[in-house]
Amino acid sequence: MPGKIHVQTTINGASTEFLCEARQSLLEVLRDVLEMTGTKEGCNDGNCGACSVIVDGRVVDSCLVLGVEAQGKKITTIEGVASPDKLHPVQQAFLENAALQCGICTPGFIVASKALLEKEPNADEGRIRHWLAGNLCRCTGYDKIVRAVMDAGQRMKAKR
Ligand code: FES
Ligand code: FES
Repeated sequence: MPGKIHVQTTINGASTEFLCEARQSLLEVLRDVLEMTGTKEGCNDGNCGACSVIVDGRVVDSCLVLGVEAQGKKITTIEGVASPDKLHPVQQAFLENAALQCGICTPGFIVASKALLEKEPNADEGRIRHWLAGNLCRCTGYDKIVRAVMDAGQRMKAKR
């Protein structure tokens, strides 16, 4: 297809190919090309974290990454967080702590929290609040989200 670039990447463990324009963000590719709409668009300018995904182990705002930059990378989106038979402990803790209202920010918070707890299972409240400073929520007031992440950390530690 003229004007489009072929990209080969790995998304949620699956080898994935797509065609995109050089100007398209990874967020646009995920949502509009690959129809993976779990990753949300809030601001589209790097301020809200709703579009958070993990690229080669780092949490990034997918609205600030070009689709072509996915070439050769390993990407985790919210669709890859749960296992086939059960929710990830972070997802379960969000449910049980009522840590969401409208839900637009939730995939970004869950992806970012998972990345933190996998690296720092002993993250305390201050560390969690600092880590999640790039994820904005207009509904919950953050306390329930932070409680959910602390709860998930305890569950993940107990499983180790
Ligand atoms: S949509 Fe990417 S940071 Fe807001
Ligand atoms: S639950 Fe609505 S923005 Fe966070």
